[in-house]
Amino acid sequence: MSDLVKRYTASVDFDQRMWRQDIRASLAHATMLARQNIISTDDLADIERGMAQVVHEIESGSFVWSLDLEDLHLNIEKRLTTLVGDAGKRLHTGRSRNDQVATDIRLYLRDAIDDIASLLGEFQSRLLDLAEKEAATALPGFTHLQVAQPITFGHHLLAYFEMVRRDAERLADCRRRTNRLPLGAAALAGTSYPIDRQFVADLLGFDGVCENSLDAVADRDFAIEFCAAGALLMMHLSRLSEELVLWMNPRFGFIKLADRFCTGSSIMPQKRNPDVPELARGKTGRIYGHLMALLTLMKGQPLAYNKDNQEDKEPLFDTVDTLTDTLRIFIEMIPSITAHPENMRDALRQGFATATDLADYLTRRGLPFRDAHAAVGLAVRRAEELGIDLAQLSLEELQRVSPLIGDDVSTVLTIEGSLAARRHVGGTAPEQVLAAIARARCG
Ligand code: ARG
Repeated sequence: MSDLVKRYTASVDFDQRMWRQDIRASLAHATMLARQNIISTDDLADIERGMAQVVHEIESGSFVWSLDLEDLHLNIEKRLTTLVGDAGKRLHTGRSRNDQVATDIRLYLRDAIDDIASLLGEFQSRLLDLAEKEAATALPGFTHLQVAQPITFGHHLLAYFEMVRRDAERLADCRRRTNRLPLGAAALAGTSYPIDRQFVADLLGFDGVCENSLDAVADRDFAIEFCAAGALLMMHLSRLSEELVLWMNPRFGFIKLADRFCTGSSIMPQKRNPDVPELARGKTGRIYGHLMALLTLMKGQPLAYNKDNQEDKEPLFDTVDTLTDTLRIFIEMIPSITAHPENMRDALRQGFATATDLADYLTRRGLPFRDAHAAVGLAVRRAEELGIDLAQLSLEELQRVSPLIGDDVSTVLTIEGSLAARRHVGGTAPEQVLAAIARARCG
């Protein structure tokens, strides 16, 4: 084999990160082999002793990973055999690297999902904390990025809470399907040794075994599913990032992010750039790319295992790393947000944000909604001519638009009145925001 082909076909540079999972699975396999009298208890003891030494060497950094041994599995097995002799050579009885690698990836991904789920939970708590603090802070709600209606900043943040709640559900669901044992499938057809797959599954904490040996070594749909769930999570974080970037623009001036999440410019001394949210938005692209890479990797493969599958690791690992880092940063960044309620309110006042409230008021007075809509249109035009907000129009001006308007209209036209009126479940009224937070905290 030429050096080029060796490098081309090797995976040890990137699959070595699964070494803990590989050793854990090997020990479970060896324990089962001894229990089934396929290897001796002496062999098992040698394997356990040797593996403890391998663990020590890898942890201390003295383990030598060799490209000549192609992948993680052969590197560890070779070292084990050097350390304990024949017992090391017996470890591979009744298994293949095909079911071995599938097992390692599932163990690895299961651990990664657990880490990410716990980070996601922390991120959700930070969102709830900020939403509670800003439960009554008025913010312009946009549609088409134009001022639409008043909402509370807390309510806006809770929208993201709901999105990532679904992301957490998707991950938990993906974990269930990931958590099945491929070992026992061997190369593809199973093995002629009297193995006990359920015993290995129990040792490794799998919920069950993969029911078909071909499927066990051939498919990576669990990894694709994880990347799909990750792509959705990143899409949500990217939308939040985009809003943070907009809100930090002085034209909005709605929030400030702590300086440690921003950088300056090498040429413009005055700049504070929202680099962290921009990068989160940007990194969403690579996560989508990984999802496409894995889908494409699978689509043309005949059953069962093909070397193509070795290409599953880098996209999967990078997805795990990117999600982990992004969540860690967001957990710190969210509490560092300072709201500027006066700027939010200024933006609201410029947008006739309570126009719908006036239309609803007229409807309650008996005007059909479409007529109310038209009447309020006239009021908005008049306010625009005078350069003032709806709430500043005199009662006289308002009654010129519709005689149904009485002096009780003033509370309806205020931001507070508009917010308080939306007091149903899922509405933006401060009391509803607090109730939603309380429900969310109960799980
Ligand atoms: N390094 C391989 C992978 O990542 C392990 C399985 C190789 N199996 C084989 N028969 N070449 O998929």
